[in-house]
Amino acid sequence: MSALTLKLTAALESRDRKGILFKIPPPSSLANNGNTLNFTLNEYLSLSKSPELRRLFLDRLQTAPALFGSGGSRVAVNWDAHAALETRLARFFNAPTALLAGSGYDANVAFFRHVPQRGDIILHDEYIHASIYDGMRSAHVRRVSFTHNDFEAFLRALRKLAEEDHGVMKGTTSVFLAVESVYSMDGSIAPLNLMVKALEEVLPKGNGHLVVDEAHATGIYGLQGRGIVSMFGIENKCLARLHTFGKALSCSGAVLLTTPLVREYLVNHGRALFFTTAPTHTTVISIDCAFSILESDTGTQLATRLIQNCTYLIESLLVSLADISRDVICLPPHFYRPLSKNVETIPTTTLPTAIIPLLTPHAFELAEHLANSGIKAFAVVFPVVPKDKARVRATVNADKTREDIDRLVSVVVEWAKAMDTPSPKDKAISCVGPARARL
Ligand SMILES: Cc1ncc(COP(=O)(O)O)c(C=O)c1O
Repeated sequence: MSALTLKLTAALESRDRKGILFKIPPPSSLANNGNTLNFTLNEYLSLSKSPELRRLFLDRLQTAPALFGSGGSRVAVNWDAHAALETRLARFFNAPTALLAGSGYDANVAFFRHVPQRGDIILHDEYIHASIYDGMRSAHVRRVSFTHNDFEAFLRALRKLAEEDHGVMKGTTSVFLAVESVYSMDGSIAPLNLMVKALEEVLPKGNGHLVVDEAHATGIYGLQGRGIVSMFGIENKCLARLHTFGKALSCSGAVLLTTPLVREYLVNHGRALFFTTAPTHTTVISIDCAFSILESDTGTQLATRLIQNCTYLIESLLVSLADISRDVICLPPHFYRPLSKNVETIPTTTLPTAIIPLLTPHAFELAEHLANSGIKAFAVVFPVVPKDKARVRATVNADKTREDIDRLVSVVVEWAKAMDTPSPKDKAISCVGPARARL
């Protein structure tokens, strides 16, 4: 056996022993979904099966001058369709400029690797997405994290930087605040309005820069799905915003909304954006059509239905799990605040979210119990989430019915009740921490 084979095998076996060996699931059919209820899909608005989007897209394909490929990198080709989509997105999101990317991952890597300059500081929520971590890791910056969505912790960290770092104090060192508007694992919403205010107050020389990843807010929150930044009305306070198309929009790719200077800088330095082929014509058409749906009554109706489904699921879970020990299963703390539609009151309330984390040290057992009952939801464990935050992550879609949601809740509750009264032997096992590997 070669040294490489030995090393790769050992690495995979180690992951397996820790219970974190990923496997691509077996193929499943969209056409014949049987009776399986899928709560793993990030396509929040259920657009992949939308008849309106299908019609619009097929019509557009009939008259499009080209469908396949794109011919090269954006620095080599700039087709009308690509340029027109960027213009449309900049206008829609009320941003100075827009830059298309093949994926949100590429856009985050490019931005965080290249835009912060040597010696600058990235102040970030501890739960920011892996793509931001990957970008930051290869940047020549200092990284400072704060406890997830804890405004006081953020403020303390920011003040400490302003007091202790000479460059920050003088305004010569930039501080980039990296946050998600809706966090992908917890469904928590960042108090962006408070953060912006604090950045301006603590760094009055203008060297604080807000960068917001709106991947899980796009298409859902704000007028016609413009996101949380738009909901707060702080578009002009962001150095950059990322909207991805692979989630609510059921497409792929992303757009970075930023200033003309940063856009031009990324065109020259953002390797992950330009040593790659530009999105294909078909991809651009699909994104354009999905935005037409967002701007139509259908988009508003789907977003409304999604929020109603989220509210219904959260309220059902809170009631049904009220008598169950939180050692067995619970929701993250912010779910226990009143639900509100008013973003201004965050963080004292919470917005209904499509990401429902069922925190339990027995995540694999719960996912398996759900699967045995015909319900699909992922177990998520360390290192994707902290060791004591194992969970089953359920995502809600617009096309789910009340009956679908009732079914999920009743299976979760049935399992939780059984776990809440374990035999003394089971109890001893269940308290020691994350469950065994079952991925
Ligand atoms: C918060 C966040 N940012 C960025 C990305 C990456 O986006 P994409 O799937 O377009 O690469 C994701 C996707 O998982 C995400 O959840």
